[in-house]
Amino acid sequence: MTDYDQLLSQALARARAAADEEGLRALDREFLQKGGVVANLLASIPGLPPEQRKQAGQRANQIKQALEAGIAARKGELEAAALEGERSGAGFDPTLPARPLERGGLHPITQVTRELEDLFTSMGWMVLDGPEVELDWYNFEALNIPKDHPARDMQDTFFCDREGKLVMRTHTSPVQVHAMERLKPPFRAIVPGKVFRNETTDASHEHTFHQMEGLCVGKDISVGHLIGAMRTLLRGIFGREIEVRLRPGYFPFVEPGFELDARCPFCKSGCSVCKQSTWIELLPCGMVHPNVLKAGGIDPEQWTGFAFGLGLSRLVMLRYGIDDVRLLLSGDQRFLEQF
Ligand code: FA5
Repeated sequence: MTDYDQLLSQALARARAAADEEGLRALDREFLQKGGVVANLLASIPGLPPEQRKQAGQRANQIKQALEAGIAARKGELEAAALEGERSGAGFDPTLPARPLERGGLHPITQVTRELEDLFTSMGWMVLDGPEVELDWYNFEALNIPKDHPARDMQDTFFCDREGKLVMRTHTSPVQVHAMERLKPPFRAIVPGKVFRNETTDASHEHTFHQMEGLCVGKDISVGHLIGAMRTLLRGIFGREIEVRLRPGYFPFVEPGFELDARCPFCKSGCSVCKQSTWIELLPCGMVHPNVLKAGGIDPEQWTGFAFGLGLSRLVMLRYGIDDVRLLLSGDQRFLEQF
């Protein structure tokens, strides 16, 4: 019994004298943890003569609890002292420079999207959103691209089910039909968003990229309105008047359809961006096909409209001189930190 008392008073004295938490951990290892003095004591109890077991067991447990409490109390004291030291200024140098904060920023696609949203909303256009997983109906059929139509091959598709009813949208044009279903003409809307194509990637082709659809439906809307809107768009992006030209282009959901080129904003007589032609292929567009208006529940005899499909990813590349589209969604910090 005396041995036990001595053991406890020595251990408690060491706990009280411990200078830091490491000292307390050493004590814990030496006495309480597996293989430690008190742990061994407890383990030896079953080997004692039966009449001694109860008392020895109780005493050993008391020692264990008392030592645990002693260690915890000293730990509390040390923590309080450390806190007090910090409060009173010991070891704290307020003149040390702070750790630099890591600053986040907006992705270049988000920056350009927001600029275009500001530009179009200032002209009275709405900003719409649509599902990224689409029904075949909206992505193709309602856009005048029936099953087995060769135009389906123009946009390689990721299918989401075996029947081919659900697809990852290949363009933002399906939102045209959603908009027509929900809004009464006249209306004007842009739809920035992510689109997906099952194609081999290279410096100018990604499987996931961004487009911005534009749709304007109203009375007597003509190609003149389309050209006017596109010139305003370019003025907003490049900060000055930029010449445009239309070439014929084929998309089943517009008639007539065009490819709109912009005079190269970077040169006068040819450069690497415009491939020495002084024109940059900017966006496909056209007058909304009557079949699409019908599919959206709008009477083509009363209303007409124009639509365009801006390659937002390519516009961002043009704007910042990025030479590989795959960098945009690479998540590479070294690339993103530059914006
Ligand atoms: C379309 O997607 C049509 N929906 C556009 C449209 C809308 C036409 C309204 C008429 C009226 P296209 O497949 O050409 O068209 O794609 C439009 C733009 O997206 C292209 O001009 C190009 O800038 C961009 N684009 C196409 N494929 C990729 C790709 N793999 N990676 C990055 N950008 C791409």
